[in-house]
Amino acid sequence: MAASTRRVKSVEDSIRDTDEPEHRLKKNLSGLDLTVFGVGVIIGTGIFVLTGLVARDQAGPAVAISFVIAGVVCGLAALCYAEFASTVPVAGSAYTFSYATFGEFVAWIIGWDLVLELALGAATVAVGWSGYLNQLLGDLGIPLPTVIAGEEARFNIPAVVIVAVMTAVLVLGIKLSSRVTSVIVAIKVAIVLLVIVVGFFYVQAANYTPFVPPAQPAAADASGWDAPLVQTLFGFSPGTFGWGGVIAGASIVFFAFIGFDIVATAAEETRDPKRDMPRGILGSLAVCTVLYVAVSLVVVGMQDYTELSAEAPLSEAFSSVGLPVFASIISIGALAGLTSVVMILMLGQSRVLFAMSRDHLLPPRFAAVHPRYGTPYRITIATGVFVAVLAAVVPLAELAELVNIGTLFAFVLVSIGVVVLRRTRPDLPRSFRVPLMPVLPIASALACFWLMANLPGNTWLRFGIWMLLGVVVYLLYGRHTSRLATGGSLDPATAGDREAARRDADG
Ligand code: ALA
Repeated sequence: MAASTRRVKSVEDSIRDTDEPEHRLKKNLSGLDLTVFGVGVIIGTGIFVLTGLVARDQAGPAVAISFVIAGVVCGLAALCYAEFASTVPVAGSAYTFSYATFGEFVAWIIGWDLVLELALGAATVAVGWSGYLNQLLGDLGIPLPTVIAGEEARFNIPAVVIVAVMTAVLVLGIKLSSRVTSVIVAIKVAIVLLVIVVGFFYVQAANYTPFVPPAQPAAADASGWDAPLVQTLFGFSPGTFGWGGVIAGASIVFFAFIGFDIVATAAEETRDPKRDMPRGILGSLAVCTVLYVAVSLVVVGMQDYTELSAEAPLSEAFSSVGLPVFASIISIGALAGLTSVVMILMLGQSRVLFAMSRDHLLPPRFAAVHPRYGTPYRITIATGVFVAVLAAVVPLAELAELVNIGTLFAFVLVSIGVVVLRRTRPDLPRSFRVPLMPVLPIASALACFWLMANLPGNTWLRFGIWMLLGVVVYLLYGRHTSRLATGGSLDPATAGDREAARRDADG
């Protein structure tokens, strides 16, 4: 165990692997494509659903401040991601970065942890999509039975269908995916701008007072494992509202920002990653933060926060001011918007698993790239099946906070990793450098940890169990099969061909 823990995969090795013919991905994406990708995955259930929930139950009109706090924390982490992605432009994001800095064991742990962000995140949003679909069908008078559709379904058929369609799109090729995304992103941003511009005229100043509602004691059921971990550990009681509520709200609306880091998973498919990666990551995050703060200010200005809807706050706010037509338009926009979130979360998941298979921490067969489409089709299909099963049968409402904790944990490690890599490999060319080293990355790690600590004890418990399971899988499998452990042998399925090619070349 001790030896494998220290196995570090050098940055040069990681970059060299991307050139092996059987593992080579097409380099098609530009900086703008990446920004569009980022916005495509960032804007989703977070802004369309959580704004209302957090304003109503935790932060009041100050939900806008919750968004600012979460945005700033993500901004710090995004700077660290940008430096890493410009230094190690290899598929796999936080997983690959950890392999180069902390060694194999931590890399595996991060790869395992990212399943919470990506696969579980995709399943959560697919279920949300099913909810919006059924709401829209209900408006048309043809709702599906709640056993097979919506947020509470036993076997969620629309969620499975959307996952299957998006898997097919991903297998057919990333350029197609980015074209599909561009159209969807255009619709989504247009809807968000519509909410801001039209809603602005219906804002009433009275709804902004009190902006930070006075703190109230926690409800009886929000104790023990349901309470934020900080509360349980340190005995203070943030309860709801007040500044404690605003910060607890930030740890929930954090979900709305998840995705900018996925831009880094597409590094290998980017034409000029050293220049375009920082642009894509920071650009998409900046656009979304501005839109979120504006939307939340408008929505809490249109309706008293105590009356906001917890399921569809944006469209309900428009209904409340007598504009039901806008409400339907927003629902359609949300439906289109969530589609790209599901797709890109699955794209990120397949790229992380692809990198893990290429390193033989997962069965290497999964790392095959399709000869015609240039996509890692096997792992993409496996990801699709896994997400579809999760979305179909697992009660996800409870598990959504796991997505946040998993993502924040990855952010903490990436923030620390960027400091470590500067020390261990000062020689590497870095086209983007985090300013104020090492203060800024340390602040990033602490801020992410603080948001984690504001999540409920239950979420921590589930997180711990999942990670423990990951350790067991590594000890039983990856530790023995790892490409670094076995002397860098290649996929047995293609090793023979490569050997023959080498002999030809030599001869
Ligand atoms: N940020 C994405 C969303 O809000 C995951 O749906």
